[in-house]
Amino acid sequence: MSDYQFIDHNYDVVVVGAGGAGLRATLGMAEQGLRTACVTKVFPTRSHTVAAQGGIAASLGNMGPDSWQWHMYDTVKGSDWLGDSDAMEYLAREAPKAVYELEHYGVPFSRTEEGKIYQRPFGGHTTEYGEGPPVQRTCAAADRTGHAILHTLYGQSLKNNAEFFIEYFAIDLIMSEDGVCQGLLAWKLDDGTIHRFNAKMVVLATGGYGRAYFSATSAHTCTGDGGGMVARQNLPLQDMEFVQFHPTGIYGAGCLITEGARGEGGYLTNSEGERFMERYAPTYKDLASRDVVSRCMTIEIREGRGVGADGDHIHLHLDHLPKEALQLRLPGISESARIFAGVDVTKEPIPVLPTVHYNMGGVPTNYWGEVLNPTADDHDAIQPGLMAVGEAGCASVHGANRLGSNSLIDLVVFGRAAAIRAGKIIDPESPNAPLNQKSVDQAMARFDKLRHASGSTDTAELRLTMQKTMQADAAVFRTSKTLKEGAEKMEKVAAGMEDIRVHDRSLIWNTDLMETLELANLMPNALTTVVSAEARQESRGAHAHEDFPDRDDAKWRVHTLARMDGETKVKLSYRSVHTEPLTSESEGGIDQKKIAPKARVY
Ligand code: FUM
Repeated sequence: MSDYQFIDHNYDVVVVGAGGAGLRATLGMAEQGLRTACVTKVFPTRSHTVAAQGGIAASLGNMGPDSWQWHMYDTVKGSDWLGDSDAMEYLAREAPKAVYELEHYGVPFSRTEEGKIYQRPFGGHTTEYGEGPPVQRTCAAADRTGHAILHTLYGQSLKNNAEFFIEYFAIDLIMSEDGVCQGLLAWKLDDGTIHRFNAKMVVLATGGYGRAYFSATSAHTCTGDGGGMVARQNLPLQDMEFVQFHPTGIYGAGCLITEGARGEGGYLTNSEGERFMERYAPTYKDLASRDVVSRCMTIEIREGRGVGADGDHIHLHLDHLPKEALQLRLPGISESARIFAGVDVTKEPIPVLPTVHYNMGGVPTNYWGEVLNPTADDHDAIQPGLMAVGEAGCASVHGANRLGSNSLIDLVVFGRAAAIRAGKIIDPESPNAPLNQKSVDQAMARFDKLRHASGSTDTAELRLTMQKTMQADAAVFRTSKTLKEGAEKMEKVAAGMEDIRVHDRSLIWNTDLMETLELANLMPNALTTVVSAEARQESRGAHAHEDFPDRDDAKWRVHTLARMDGETKVKLSYRSVHTEPLTSESEGGIDQKKIAPKARVY
């Protein structure tokens, strides 16, 4: 192995990733005086949260009656009863506080006539425990809400003396002999130096792994780096089979057209010009939950009612909406439609297709963001020294399907929760333990092996095979046959890492090596997804299994835990769902009967 020199750093907390969750955690830690570093592979305001369009859910009630209990109910139902009730209560209860904090930090929300935060309808968000009309719960900054949040949180983090390590690629976690996370190794992309970060707490805020698929709304940087690092420590990933397809990715390009477009009155049609969602979801129609809408669109296409020369997509209409409303509320997607679909939204429909958008699964945590390493005796056992927040984590607040605009609120509520918890459990006065050199050596050996990989397969070639396999075999609809084939193919694809070739051996701006490290991170995410999906013999939320079309609560209301067993095999076990909310009805909580499982209809 080459002889690597290290540059050492000591912090109370190191946050990996500077999207909404990473920045909210960084800010919260720094505000409490914890010595906090944020290590990020891209400039913070270029993190994928910048692409979040439609808004952030919180029951502010600015546009009509709303309550956190209704928000919680919708989240439970959206999750298809797989979410953890304590985490879902925490999300819904804390959401208004977290949004007002953002407002006070300076997020430029759109406003109502009276100057309140503007809120729009989003799919699956309702009133009266799903019995009333859709609610306007999604707080928006036009259709650039993530952009607004990121810029504000970055500025506030700097103001509070958080330190940023920008364009540093996290290589691996450093673990003590007795399994405590002690920090991480990172590669500084612009000068090739290697950095050892020693911290009392590492917070993974690395986002999702949308790029395991061929067509995704996710940025090319969404490569499941946190999941990859966790899997290499033989820690589990949870509920990976639940991959969300957003109904309205632009056909061909995959870019997001926000659900806010339907919130503002947009609707979908098939080749017969029919508003087909009225047939499938008579009450909430185009504002049904997104797993439902994506399935209905796919059925329309399969049954020969798709639009276009090949009948392989669907139309989204905004052309009936006033031009001024489009300019005010949806300027970003009007521009995206023009650039990526050549469509003037004031005159023509946008061609759209369900596109991979979000990973409900991730690193299991409790609702404070503490990573779990469940054992047979203790399903909630905590992994010391490690937290995960945002899309990288699985709290589990979205269960089998996430509601639109519950992602941005997840980022800030749980980023904030992680900071609150860290403030309680970290002693800034105590010295950091010395790093385990054996763990450092193992990580550097892996890095060096990939840097000098001299097989016969280019990284881009293997990545494409992985993406096409996932797209074909772990899709909107799945069958036992596709999942079995997918699991077998993915095992071979993962074995292909042994034959990878990296052409550039340098350490400065070596994008070939960086993409190879990213591919190594994507692999366990992709493998655990398809293997977990093959095992789950029911349909729930985003997991639509055609051979098992019904939800089976008796057998499958459990979280899947998937651990890597070597490079290509996955071992599964299961963990119980938390069905008890945090507070009882007599303490001001939700009536538990309201959130008992039932048929999920919109
Ligand atoms: O449609 C959207 O604006 C996406 C929002 C979300 O995924 O939460």
